[in-house]
Amino acid sequence: MRQSSLVVVANRLPIDDSIAPDGACEWRRSPGGLVSALHPLLRHAPATWVGWAGGTGPAPALPDVDGVRLCAVPLTADDLRDHYEGFANATLWPLYHDAVEQPQHHRRWWEAYQRVNRRFAEAAAAVAEPGAVVWVQDYHLHLVPGMLRDLRPDLRIGFFLHVPFPPPELFMQLPRRAELLRGMLGADLVGFQRVQAAHNFAQLVVKVLGLPATDRRIGVGDRVVRIGAFPVSIDTAEMAALAARPDVAARAQRLRQDLGRPERVILSVDRMDYTKGIEQRLKAYSELLAAGHVKVRDTVLVQVAVPSRERVGQYQVLRERVEREVGRINGEFGRVGEPAIHYLTQPFDRAELAALYRVADVMAVTPLRDGMNLVAKEYVAARVDDAGALLLSEFAGAAAELPQAYLVNPHDLEGLKEGLLAALRAAPADVAERMRAMRAHLHTHDIRAWARSYLTALNDTGALVERLTSGGESARLPAQPGRSAARADHRG
Ligand code: ADP
Ligand code: F6P
Repeated sequence: MRQSSLVVVANRLPIDDSIAPDGACEWRRSPGGLVSALHPLLRHAPATWVGWAGGTGPAPALPDVDGVRLCAVPLTADDLRDHYEGFANATLWPLYHDAVEQPQHHRRWWEAYQRVNRRFAEAAAAVAEPGAVVWVQDYHLHLVPGMLRDLRPDLRIGFFLHVPFPPPELFMQLPRRAELLRGMLGADLVGFQRVQAAHNFAQLVVKVLGLPATDRRIGVGDRVVRIGAFPVSIDTAEMAALAARPDVAARAQRLRQDLGRPERVILSVDRMDYTKGIEQRLKAYSELLAAGHVKVRDTVLVQVAVPSRERVGQYQVLRERVEREVGRINGEFGRVGEPAIHYLTQPFDRAELAALYRVADVMAVTPLRDGMNLVAKEYVAARVDDAGALLLSEFAGAAAELPQAYLVNPHDLEGLKEGLLAALRAAPADVAERMRAMRAHLHTHDIRAWARSYLTALNDTGALVERLTSGGESARLPAQPGRSAARADHRG
């Protein structure tokens, strides 16, 4: 078995199998924030990515993708139901997102969670060379750092949580709260999106495990586990270059024509998830149409909602409700050839997404709770013309970094409507000034800066940091140990 000096362990591999139009099986990039963040980073790095390739049954043998070795971990039908759809996405996911849907608890799911975490830990242990860095990602794999430390004490282990980490009063509901915390503490560094999340974690470690902890360090026996905030980002330069391509600009113009040359295009791009606030946004738009503040002839909404976790009950209910509401709004306010909402559920390639971003006068990103939300950052990076208003939820991690966005509370329907109208009616000079400031931030705080700050904090990984983050915009960033991490740590 080939071994690597850097191993990323994530539930999902960066590719998914899908059925091509001719019926053949083909691989395509899987949608979702984690893949969008890590895929551009690892391209051509000497890394192995351990993850699930989608589907059930034996793990497929996969070719390297852009120089990254892919190591597929198999899931059985029971694992898929009880680990991925169950404990990960029907217990932890809703609990970590303010319990906007009711978290469910089943003992069988916990057994599957342990079993699958062990399989991931064993796969990572097999492909990590002596002393390697193993970087475990997200809530599907809380137990992997602890299991991996038992299997391979020689490794340097990082854990990063892409989603919010909840306040103690919510986390305390979990029947297996102590085991989850202990699993994460197997890492040398536990990273979160927000300072508040690191604070929640430290409080819980004291309360549940009785360990000494500050918001930066936790004592675990004779080890010190470091914790901190490292807001994840995107490949800003890549998105900007894509959006500036003449064919993408031409595609954006054609899209506007196809939409009937409206004065204003509002765009939303989400996975179909109840955390994304899709229903609240549709309600706000519908009420603006009903009150005559927005007219279908002048303004269109393009809602991209790619289906996600389709066998989980709460996701099925959401999709039915969204589609019923889109139908109602189009029936009530649309005209022949002029729907009020253009509703698309397809996955798009990066160039098509960039064209959509370029055509959007207002990008509405209004999740009820979101760890970061990379769509918001992609939109900003794509607006190389400094045009376009970002309507952003205060409850997205991105809001802490992009305060120049038009910020809204998506739980407040009137506030949401006012925010949408303000963004639609904003003066071009105001829009440009805000966009310039946000683009300047993302120019330096891109995905390489994120990796640099995290891996520098993980320590003794100087050579690795150089290999991963050389090239691209942030290669010019200063590389003093701890400096970027400290800067990220102070952001809320
Ligand atoms: P999450 O991780 O919850 O899905 P993010 O906004 O952080 O949310 O990341 C979503 C990622 O998935 C973005 O990179 C976005 O471009 C991508 N994505 C979303 N919808 C689509 C789609 N229809 N086709 C292709 N990529 C998509
Ligand atoms: O951002 C949270 C997350 O679960 C990521 O791990 C993943 O990229 C994304 O949402 C998509 O979810 P899934 O892997 O369940 O399709």
